[in-house]
Amino acid sequence: MLRGTDIKPAEGKLGVLIVGLGAVSTTFVAGVEAIKKGYSEPLGSVSQMATIRLGKRTDNRTPLIRDFVPLAQLKDLEFLAWDIFESDAYEAACKAGVLEQPILDSLENELRALKPHKAVFSSDYVKKLHGTHVKQGANKLELAQQLMEDIRSFKAEKKLNRMVLAWAASTEIYLEPNPVQDTISSFEQAMQNNHPAISPSMIYAYAALKMGIPFINGAPNLNLEIPALRELSIQNKVAVGGKDFKTGQTLMKTIIAPGLKARMLGLNGWFSTNILGNRDGEVLDDPESFKTKEVSKLSVLESILEQDKYPQLYGNIYHKVRINYYPPRGDNKESWDNIDIFGWLGYPMQIKINFLCRDSILAAPVLLDLILFTDLAMRCEMFGVQEWLSFYWKSPMAAPGLHPENDLFIQQTKLKNTLRYMMKEDLITHLGLEYYDQM
Ligand SMILES: NC(=O)c1ccc[n+]([C@@H]2O[C@H](COP(=O)([O-])OP(=O)(O)OC[C@H]3O[C@@H](n4cnc5c(N)ncnc54)[C@H](O)[C@@H]3O)[C@@H](O)[C@H]2O)c1
Repeated sequence: MLRGTDIKPAEGKLGVLIVGLGAVSTTFVAGVEAIKKGYSEPLGSVSQMATIRLGKRTDNRTPLIRDFVPLAQLKDLEFLAWDIFESDAYEAACKAGVLEQPILDSLENELRALKPHKAVFSSDYVKKLHGTHVKQGANKLELAQQLMEDIRSFKAEKKLNRMVLAWAASTEIYLEPNPVQDTISSFEQAMQNNHPAISPSMIYAYAALKMGIPFINGAPNLNLEIPALRELSIQNKVAVGGKDFKTGQTLMKTIIAPGLKARMLGLNGWFSTNILGNRDGEVLDDPESFKTKEVSKLSVLESILEQDKYPQLYGNIYHKVRINYYPPRGDNKESWDNIDIFGWLGYPMQIKINFLCRDSILAAPVLLDLILFTDLAMRCEMFGVQEWLSFYWKSPMAAPGLHPENDLFIQQTKLKNTLRYMMKEDLITHLGLEYYDQM
C-alpha cells in the first residue's frame, strides 16, 4: 500500500462508468453538474463536507477530508452510462421525477449530452423490465468484449487517466452461488456457454476487472463475492466494493440498533414496511428481485446485535421487512418501523419511526463518495474488497471468514482511521487520558 506523499496524485480526468441511467444515477449526475455550477453545496457527501480530526484535541487540526486526502475533483469527472432504454440523462431524470423541473431544465445541455450505450441485459434476471436498447452477441463473453470496446472508445475520446465503474441498475433476481463461478477459467467457459449462473451484472463486473477498472455494486445482486470475480480483482490488482447502497430505512437501522446494543437493551421484534413508487419499487414488486433485497436488508440486525453473544437480549428477534410498490409516491419513499424493545426486569417499550425520505437524494452522495474513495484506494494500491468503505453499504463485503461490520459508528471510525493511516497521521483511539496527566 502506498501512503503519504507516495500516493499517486489525482491528475487528469476520472471516467465514471455507470450501469443504469435511472433515479439514482440521474440524481447523482445532475447533482454533480449543479454543484459544479455553484447551485448547491455537496450536501450529504462525507468526502466533500466532513472534516477529520488529526492529532490531539488540543491541536485544533480538523481539515476537510477533501483537503486532507488527494481526491479527484468534481470538475474532472466524465460520465458514461448504459441502459436498456434509449432516453438520455435529461429525459431519464424527468421520468424519474426526483428533481424538480426548473433545476433539470437549467442543466438540460449537460444532461442531454449523456446518452446511454446499449446495455447487457436479459429479462430472465429482472422480470419486470423489457427494454430494447440491448446488445446482441453470440455469447456472454462476446457481450463483455462489447462493453470493453465501449470503455476503450470512451477512454480515448475523453482522454481519461483513470476510471471507476458503478452498478446503479436494477436489482437482479436472487441467485445461489454456482460451481461455474468458482474459478476465472470456469467462469469464462460458462460465459462462452451462455450459462444461466452468469448474470448481466457479473458480465459488467468481469469487463471492468479484466480491464483493471474498479467495480462498485450499488444493488444487492450476487456479484463480486463469487470466487472468480474475487480472484480476478486480486489478480488484476483492482479495488472492489459492495453491496447495496445504505440509504433510508437500513441507514436508520444501523444508527438505532448499535445504540440499543450499546446500552444492553433487548429486542423482541423489528417490523419494517415501506411504500415506494419508482421503477426500483416496481422491479422489487417481483418476488425474485425482492428476495435479493430482503436478504441484504435482513442481515443488518443479526450482524450488529450478535445474537450468539447476547442470547438473553437478542436470541429471539422477529425481524420482518416489507416493500410495497405504490406508484403515487414516486421516489419519495415512506417507511414505518415498529421496534419492540425491553429493559430492566424485562419491561417492554416501543419505538416508532416514520421516515419520509427521498431514496435517490440519499443515494446520490453515497455514490459520489464511493467513486472518489475507490479511485483514491486505487492510487494507494489497495486492491480487492475495500472494507473501510463498509460505511456506505447495506450488506458490506469482508474478507472470507470475517464477520462484516454493520454498525455505522464503527464503520465511520474505520473509514476515518483508514484516511489517517493513508496520510501517515496517528490513528485516533479516543482514549484521552493524556488530557488528565494520567499517562
Ligand atoms: N435509491 C436508493 O436509495 C437505493 C438504495 C440502495 C440500493 N439501490 C439500488 O440501486 C439501483 C438503482 O436504483 P434506482 O432507484 O436508480 O432504480 P431505477 O429503476 O430508477 O434505475 C435503474 C436503471 O437500470 C436500468 N437497467 C436495468 N438493468 C440494466 C442492465 N442490465 N444494464 C443497464 N441498465 C439496466 C433500468 O432500465 C433503469 O433505468 C437498484 O438496484 C436499487 O435497488 C437504490
